[in-house]
Amino acid sequence: MITKAIYPGTFDPVTYGHGDIIARAAKLFDNVTVAVATHPSKSPVFTQDERVELISQVFSHLDNVSACGFDCLLAEFAQQCHAQVIIRGLRAVSDFEYEFQLASMNRALMPHLETIFLPTSTKYTYISSSLVREVAQLGGEIEQFVDPIVIKALSTKINR
Ligand code: COA
Repeated sequence: MITKAIYPGTFDPVTYGHGDIIARAAKLFDNVTVAVATHPSKSPVFTQDERVELISQVFSHLDNVSACGFDCLLAEFAQQCHAQVIIRGLRAVSDFEYEFQLASMNRALMPHLETIFLPTSTKYTYISSSLVREVAQLGGEIEQFVDPIVIKALSTKINR
């Protein structure tokens, strides 16, 4: 059986913390789709297409990883992709309550869909996309948090 997983998020932008989860998931599953949510309530800086493109470029070296946008229920999208598993990263205990709720809701909607949690590597536990954007907007260095491709795209957005 081919095991297919989806890793959902807003990815505005994708960080090394996400990358850590993606690379590890790529070793566990035959296929990993990074599922990029529209998430209008977060008012993303990058459009959904731009976020998908950035992920595709940053992970072009991983043959079994692809990126795709979605604008529906995650459980529905997982079914459309024929994914058996949703991957979520856990950064701290504080993430757990929300993640448990999300996983339970997704299983209630699609009972055969499993959520698997991967603990984020310790060195990335404090990173979030909005913090990286804030540091960049205020002129701070972000090399240790995001790929050079993302740095270039972010500086273009900021200087616009
Ligand atoms: N390393 C670094 N940062 C991480 C991380 C990791 N391993 N994991 C999460 N983060 C950061 C993200 O960058 C994000 O930062 P931000 O809040 O500054 O943008 C933050 O932690 C929260 O991430 P996450 O919990 O993945 O939220 P999200 O907004 O990226 O994704 C969805 C949430 C898209 C998965 C969820 O809203 C969803 O499923 N939406 C689809 C609609 C749906 O089905 N709704 C019903 C759900 S039951």
